[in-house]
Amino acid sequence: MALASCFFSTKKVLPCTISYKSAYLRRISASSSSSSSSSSSSSSAEPLMRVVSPDSLKYESGLLGAVPSSKVDAGSSSLALDYMRNIVLSTKVYDVAVETPLQHSTVVSERVGVNVWLKREDLQPVNAFKLRGAYNMMANLSEEELGRGIICSSSGNHAQGVALAAQRLGCHAVVVMPETAAEVKWKTVERLGAKAVLVGASFHEAQLYAKEKASVEGRTFVPSFDHPHVIMGQGTIGMEILRQAKFPLHAIFVPVGGGGLFAGVAAYVKTVCPQVKIIGVEPFDANAMALSLHHGQRIMLDQVGGFVDGVAVKVVGEETFRLCRELVDGVVLVNRDAICTSIKDMIMDKRCIIEPAGALALAGAEAYCNYYDIKGQNVVAITSGGNIDLEKLRLAIN
Ligand SMILES: Cc1ncc(COP(=O)(O)O)c(C=O)c1O
Repeated sequence: MALASCFFSTKKVLPCTISYKSAYLRRISASSSSSSSSSSSSSSAEPLMRVVSPDSLKYESGLLGAVPSSKVDAGSSSLALDYMRNIVLSTKVYDVAVETPLQHSTVVSERVGVNVWLKREDLQPVNAFKLRGAYNMMANLSEEELGRGIICSSSGNHAQGVALAAQRLGCHAVVVMPETAAEVKWKTVERLGAKAVLVGASFHEAQLYAKEKASVEGRTFVPSFDHPHVIMGQGTIGMEILRQAKFPLHAIFVPVGGGGLFAGVAAYVKTVCPQVKIIGVEPFDANAMALSLHHGQRIMLDQVGGFVDGVAVKVVGEETFRLCRELVDGVVLVNRDAICTSIKDMIMDKRCIIEPAGALALAGAEAYCNYYDIKGQNVVAITSGGNIDLEKLRLAIN
């Protein structure tokens, strides 16, 4: 592990340069509705982004807030349809990822009076769903691109997915993580043969460093969430949920960081079963998606809480936001106590340890069902990861 001593200004956002490989993806890119902040050459003027505090948007836990005003009927969204087709026809995730089970949560279901189903992504190899998107993007790179090596930035789980994907594809990987990344995560990265670099206090700072290094060293940058192939890889979870659920679903609760999982699941599910609500869940102090949907444009948080390290993101993705503002039903906010309760529930119910980001959706599902007094319905919570340090686990269960 290497420590990079760099300092980055967080008041500006570099434009996201996404290289779309197939004609199909080019079509998705060309239909982009974003303007000043849309992808362009990295040498163009850097767009300024509104910087706001997480506290500037508060609503009761459980309430479905940040309902997008630009939501469209998914049946008429060619964007969602394009994504859904690609998810079904061209994703390559099953070379490394497994189809995780959809399990009934006895403890939470009995307490809430709702059938709560857990999509157990914490049971993936490297214990998180991020492997799906990372592998899907990397498997679509050319031999030459793989030969030059790849680089990514991540709060930890994407890093492990990239490291495993690089090992399988035989390419060299550098992984940049914030200094707050859980030890278990960077150690796994190194064990998988990638080089781990810890830099910056947040995901955003790590990302700026990694993008700079990518252009200097000619490596391909593998984004954690803001790329069509990554979003499609995560979207395979939505495909599995609909295949596995043998009953009508009221809602799917999705933990949200940069929005790759949220966007991918929404693109698939809203096209196939538009009546199923797709609800994001964020911590009160890491609510970049809720604030972006609320303002109708991407914002940057001036600070972000680090307890739920998997979703400690200051700015959501450009492409993920484009999808989410059309497709999702809103965002539920939860506090730290609720997340810790869900971690304990998983230990009692399934004898399994999940990390705070992995518990987020379960906490959001319970808060929402209690808030709206929903009974007897089926809801799914994606338990997205299980990588947690012992110290944080001790904090969470005490
Ligand atoms: C365990 C876990 N859950 C949820 C997320 C959020 O995913 P996304 O950035 O696609 O919104 C992450 C992101 O790294 C994660 O590691």
